[in-house]
Amino acid sequence: MKIRIKVPATSANLGPGFDVAGLALTLYNTFIFELTDGTTTITGAPEQFCNEDNLTLQAFRKGAERCGLEYGGVNIECISEVPHTRGLGSSSTCIVAGIVAAYAFVGRSEERQEILDLATEIEGHPDNVAPAIFGGLTVSVMYSDKVKTLNIPVHNEYRFVTLIPPFTLSTELSRKVLPQTISRQDAIANVSHLALAVASLINGYDEGLKLGFKDRLHQPYRGHLIKGYHEIMRTLDDDPMVLGSYLSGAGPSLMALIKAEDTMGVVRIKEELGTLLDGWQVIKLELDQRGYTCDYE
Ligand code: HSE
Repeated sequence: MKIRIKVPATSANLGPGFDVAGLALTLYNTFIFELTDGTTTITGAPEQFCNEDNLTLQAFRKGAERCGLEYGGVNIECISEVPHTRGLGSSSTCIVAGIVAAYAFVGRSEERQEILDLATEIEGHPDNVAPAIFGGLTVSVMYSDKVKTLNIPVHNEYRFVTLIPPFTLSTELSRKVLPQTISRQDAIANVSHLALAVASLINGYDEGLKLGFKDRLHQPYRGHLIKGYHEIMRTLDDDPMVLGSYLSGAGPSLMALIKAEDTMGVVRIKEELGTLLDGWQVIKLELDQRGYTCDYE
């Protein structure tokens, strides 16, 4: 028996919701798992990841331990669409797929809360793994060693123009540049902006998004790590058809929200940004509403 798991890319933070908010996108990594008597192989991933350190394999092993799956070895085939180290949750897809596979082999693939708890433990924060598990827009609260996640319905009229640079940015480096403490004014600003952003997404209040996505907690410290960041963000801010923009996760990808009816949005954004986008990929995505799917073959 083979198990096929498809996990959506995610975009975390939404500006002010650092380590809290995230959304799932219609771009996927797929993983096929098969148990064996003893050998373990990984195919389809870049060669440097085809070993015991592979994140999907590590998550599978932790998942198996947690749900009591006994096995000899496992074959994992990876089919990747989500670019690595670009702030689009590719590591989360690996973690979620590994855990879900272990749970699926014992018939428990729908235990999403338990899968979330373990995925958060492995990832260290819930903002990418939560939407990869539940789909849509999620906000998560950590308490003790548990996670409370709310899956929030968002108007279906939004489209997510994803600007993916040709270079990578390690999450570790992107977190290292952040200050340990922030001022009360910055904390208040972020709380208010996140409340505005989430309420605006729920209610389809377009006018609240540009301000709602403003952040003082991480974006100001990360911008210099991304070539062209300030010019690109300024240009997106000046485009009246762009409802809001933010740094996706730890970067370096950037996200711009437009309406479904703005069918020329991608072409216009590319024109406005011109050579600033040399080598960048610009794709229009929708919100994934389901989170991971798991099928038996
Ligand atoms: N919230 C995380 C960050 C997402 O911004 O560092 C990336 O793991």
